[in-house]
Amino acid sequence: GQHGEAWAPVNIALAKYWGKRNAELNLPQNSSLSISLPELGTHTRLTLTEGADTVTLNGALAPEAFAQRLSRFLNLFRPDGLGFAVETTNTVPTAAGLASSASGFAALIKALDALFDWQLDYKTLSMLARIGSGSASRSLYDGFAVWHRGEKDDGTDSYAEGLPETWPDLRIGLVEVDTSQKPIGSTAGMQQTVNSCPLYTAWPTFAEQSVQTQLAAIRDHDMEKLGDSAEHNALTMHATMIATRPTILYWTPETVQAIHTVQQLRASGTPVWFTMDAGPNLKLLLPHTAAAAVQTSFPEVRILAPFATA
Ligand code: PMV
Repeated sequence: GQHGEAWAPVNIALAKYWGKRNAELNLPQNSSLSISLPELGTHTRLTLTEGADTVTLNGALAPEAFAQRLSRFLNLFRPDGLGFAVETTNTVPTAAGLASSASGFAALIKALDALFDWQLDYKTLSMLARIGSGSASRSLYDGFAVWHRGEKDDGTDSYAEGLPETWPDLRIGLVEVDTSQKPIGSTAGMQQTVNSCPLYTAWPTFAEQSVQTQLAAIRDHDMEKLGDSAEHNALTMHATMIATRPTILYWTPETVQAIHTVQQLRASGTPVWFTMDAGPNLKLLLPHTAAAAVQTSFPEVRILAPFATA
């Protein structure tokens, strides 16, 4: 039948999205900024069918919850009486603590655009991907992306844009400290934080400042400014999670140990900073000149270049 296919990269937020002002449309409390990892992501192939939806993930039948989340999103675009065959492949190591929902919904909306030949611009595709998963709004782009929170209630001004800046010397390190299941997903975690964390009122303003600081750091290729802001932003997000009732503590003893290792590396002159999402794993920011020292302290780290290198 009629088909469309597409690829989208994963992204790592350096200024985090944490808190929704509208849960149905995934409208955020604050803007966010990310970097995509072009080697890791999702490829999706869509075919229109006569029957019910079928969803495969990496060649096998997808888990029920995963398939239902996709079908619910596809309902927004479904022609009367038709189903979709969705074949999705993640090159994201499933245990690396990277959100495959971001690359997943970005690839899905691009595959829909190809299938129906909408030829929508990336702003619009970003807005639509956002409805599937907030962070997916940023996975339409390679490189840096900023997701503008927007002001409207209908979400038409809440989408991400790619930044033109490249940074060939920038490296991202993936440190997998724990592969077990998260205690709580991001949607429930955000809701609980917004509802019960007394520190949360400070977050949206702080996060907007992080975005501004990071835009300046990216413009100037100021690694220390970018790393310091990303690390402070992640720790502040985790502080709001931890101060929520019941507490949301994603950190394991190995997480804390890895944080100390990063601090020790910096104290001995290696420029490296970390960020963390809704899980126990660390993502490192470093210039390529620090790669050898970081690899020595984190033998299992996977170091990736977000931009083409010279
Ligand atoms: O897009 P979601 O609903 O999976 O939320 C992502 C939340 C964080 O990963 C913690 C932060 C972010 O901006 O990606």
